Parts: sequence; structure tokens; C-alpha cells
Amino acid sequence: MKIDHIGIAVKSLELTAKAYESLGLEVTSTDSVWSEGVKVAFLPAGDTKIELLEPLNADSVIAKFIEKRGEGVHHIALQVDDIEAAMKSAKEHGMQLINEEPKVGAHGRKVAFIHPKSTGGVLIELVQVTS
Ligand code: CO
Repeated sequence: MKIDHIGIAVKSLELTAKAYESLGLEVTSTDSVWSEGVKVAFLPAGDTKIELLEPLNADSVIAKFIEKRGEGVHHIALQVDDIEAAMKSAKEHGMQLINEEPKVGAHGRKVAFIHPKSTGGVLIELVQVTS
């Protein structure tokens, strides 16, 4: 198991990316996930990545997050081989899943979210690494 990425909610992807680039990181891919109302940029950092998330519209969960809590760490994504199995296991252990079925996340990967109530106050994204 490894951390696939750390998601950071930002008002301006472009400005924040520049800040991280000045630290030596580089944006290697971007994507817009219209179903979630977010534009994302990935900056690899060693074995993991930083994901910057900018809201595409005011209804976006990221817009609401920034409105309530300001910019900051939004989620930690863990890689799993089999997302259905991981979701089932989480459920069996009494964890509260945000979505009952896997969703399509950035770059078409299958993702699911676990409520911060179940994970010590941090939103956890499960991301399936294989197709
Ligand atoms: Co993410």
C-alpha cells in the first residue's frame, strides 16, 4: 500500500502550481473532472504526488470546502489493487463511505471516498491502480 497522492484544495491552480514549481516540483499532468466540478494538476514528489484541485464552479465540493475551511489539504489518496474489495472491507469495518459505487476520477481511474468521521478527520480517497 502506498500513498498515491495528497489532494490540496486551492483557489488558483496556476498560481499554486508556480509556487510548488519554485520548490522544484513539476506539473506532469492536468485534467478536468466535470462530474466533480474540479480541475486538477498532478506534481510528482518522489514516490507520490501532490494533486492541486481548483473548483470549476461554485457548486463544486472543492468550492464549498474552500468557502468553509479555506485552502488546504483536502484528502489523502491510497492506492488499492481492487477498489470493490477495499470498499467492501471498509464497510465491513463500519467505515462510512461517501459513494457506494466506485466513481471515475482524474485520468479515468476508479476512485471512492471514505468519510473523515471514520478516518481520524481526514478524507481518504481510494484509487485503483490497475484497470
Ligand atoms: Co485525489
